[in-house]
Amino acid sequence: MYILSIETSCDETAVSLVRADGDFPHARYEVLGNALRSQINLHRTYGGVFPNLAKRDHAAIIVQLMIDALRDASMLKNEPQQLSTDTREQLTTLLDREPGLAAQLLAFHETYGVPAVDAIAVTVGPGLEPALWVGVNFARALAALWNVPVIPTNHLEGHILASLYADNRLPELSFPAIALLISGGHTEFILMRTWNTYEKIGQTRDDAVGEAFDKVARLLSLPYPGGPEISKLADEARTHEYPRTLELTRPMLDSGDLDVSFSGIKTAVRYAVQDKELTHEERAAIAREFEDAVTEVLIAKARDAINEFTAHTFIIGGGVSANRFIRDSFTATLTREFPDLALYIPHPSLTTDNSVMIALAGHAHLHAAKDPGALGDLRAEGNKQHRRIPLGENAFPFAS
Ligand code: KG4
Ligand code: ZN
Repeated sequence: MYILSIETSCDETAVSLVRADGDFPHARYEVLGNALRSQINLHRTYGGVFPNLAKRDHAAIIVQLMIDALRDASMLKNEPQQLSTDTREQLTTLLDREPGLAAQLLAFHETYGVPAVDAIAVTVGPGLEPALWVGVNFARALAALWNVPVIPTNHLEGHILASLYADNRLPELSFPAIALLISGGHTEFILMRTWNTYEKIGQTRDDAVGEAFDKVARLLSLPYPGGPEISKLADEARTHEYPRTLELTRPMLDSGDLDVSFSGIKTAVRYAVQDKELTHEERAAIAREFEDAVTEVLIAKARDAINEFTAHTFIIGGGVSANRFIRDSFTATLTREFPDLALYIPHPSLTTDNSVMIALAGHAHLHAAKDPGALGDLRAEGNKQHRRIPLGENAFPFAS
């Protein structure tokens, strides 16, 4: 089957066309088209993602990305269609909140035929609500025009599946599995007792890891997004053995649970740099100490989680899992301490937000999309309201 997948939860707009042969989780996947555009340059001046700007940019580019993905998949047919007045009105109503999108979609159908897509998977949350709505409304409009089901998809589940995805397949997983999601918006330990079941067993009490990286980067006058910049500086400090000028605590190690906290570390960095002219070497040494502290805390909590749940598998995912030092440290420590543990780290190209992961998560919940109520229920669930993604019986339970 052919799945068109859509991701607009934050500052990446992405549309993919993925073929799935077989049933989840044993299917073979082929990414036939994958169009992605990052808005990083747009948000750089603000030092973070500006939701309404993100929304506008998603709406401006998403039809073009869909065309690109369909073209790469050889599914773009030059077959102009006559849309009925009813269909045009339906489309305009569905997209009345996304200025310009209805006109672009009408123009698409005046040029191209309906592609042979079997289902549309779209991220409904968590994420920035205005940004999410663009993808959700776009998916609803396509579903109405093409008469195909929409599969509401959880962004975090996408990250987990992206970490597992390799050689066009998902692996045979040995359960229980624990996933550590580290991104700009999330830091969570999630327990999977089987496929498609997710229990949150730990989380940050304040900043997400990526958020902490971005804030510390700002304190060090580094550009947004700060994660990769801190990482570069920290590597330099390690290579050249710059002297350590700041000693940060490793918070929450004895909290007795699987929660973490990073705002204290960030504040300590703020005090350390306040009103000071730092040399390049001093800034690099701080970046290193920060990266060391975060990594040590995450590894300590991962160790606790693996022991507590006798996990057979550990998965790391989310944008921060691109961090070389975190990847290498987890690999070295966990393989040494738990020789039988299967460790999954995403391919670097799938660490940050993308829509291939949304196709995988959509495929996992395909049967739920056949629920006739699904389309009517479809709504964006932003960061505050992501208690339950409306998937019917097999609801995706990232309960908070
Ligand atoms: O998953 P993602 O693309 O978006 C969210 O869902 O949040 O993650 C983006 C986050 C940003 O905070 C960015 O600074 C961080 O991932 N990041 C990194 C690295 N690459 C991206 N953090 C640390 N080291 C990196 N190499
Ligand atoms: Zn993400």
